[in-house]
Amino acid sequence: MTNPYQDNRGNKDRSITKSSQMGGSVDAVRPLRKSGGHVDEAAFLIGDTMTGGYGTGADILHGCTLAVNPGEIAVIVGPNGAGKSTAMKAVFGMLNVRSGAVRLKGEDITHLSPQARVAKGMAFVPQTHNIFTSMSVEENLEMGAFLRRDDIRKTIDQVYDLFPILGDKRYQAAGELSGGQRQQVAVGRALMTKPEVLMLDEPTAGVSPIVMDELFDRIIEVARTGISILMVEQNARQALEIADRGYVLVQGANAFTGTGQELLADPDVRKSFLGG
Ligand SMILES: Nc1ncnc2c1ncn2[C@@H]1O[C@H](COP(=O)(O)OP(=O)(O)OP(=O)(O)O)[C@@H](O)[C@H]1O
Ligand SMILES: [Mg+2]
Repeated sequence: MTNPYQDNRGNKDRSITKSSQMGGSVDAVRPLRKSGGHVDEAAFLIGDTMTGGYGTGADILHGCTLAVNPGEIAVIVGPNGAGKSTAMKAVFGMLNVRSGAVRLKGEDITHLSPQARVAKGMAFVPQTHNIFTSMSVEENLEMGAFLRRDDIRKTIDQVYDLFPILGDKRYQAAGELSGGQRQQVAVGRALMTKPEVLMLDEPTAGVSPIVMDELFDRIIEVARTGISILMVEQNARQALEIADRGYVLVQGANAFTGTGQELLADPDVRKSFLGG
């Protein structure tokens, strides 16, 4: 079985993506300006100047912008309570965006439900409660494919190729797995819809540095297949190392934006957010 995520650099097999449903390959999308991570209105996915909060409560996001292109890794960092998870929920349709817009391939999806966004190729792994602990690993993957009516076996095997330990533990309750393995289940579940955009909220929370490196390697593999990754990370330095774009959010607004390398080199970002 060939694995589209395997680390054979330059692999452009997009079999896990929905290119047919999405109206052609991502190449059909108009060429995207690579703007050093700055606001990119033509981006594949963009949450553009989003303002909003929970219910009728005060605004948490204040003109926040996040964008990502196919095959890119965009990383959102910032202090606790900055609104990183809120911004992810806004992009995924779980928050009322009072002004601004979310666009996918140029289409305004601001008012679509999360389910409708999944059908359009988006997948989201929330920060907490992102697996069914009493179900087996394989049942979790099956649940991830609930919207699909085609054969999901090949995608399950691709997830096991990406995360071999999950194949070994396929009949075990997901709740019995280690923290890192649970995160693999959550990412695997999200991949079951064959997304074009994978949104991850702190995928390495609570795992050891070795497991974190391993997870980042797998995320890079997924990006190499052409999937866009929009990811919140607490391990800011390590995450920015692998980021094509980086966003520093503070109090619901963009404080710094640039390539991962630009942010890592920025004295203000280093001093305030990376521990010097
Ligand atoms: N469901 C909710 N209802 C109301 N307010 C919320 C809700 N979730 C978060 N908030 C508030 O929104 C603000 C931003 O929280 P958010 O969880 O987005 O921050 P974060 O950057 O993801 O933080 P962390 O690094 O701790 O994950 C906080 O003031 C928080 O109290
Ligand atoms: Mg959060």
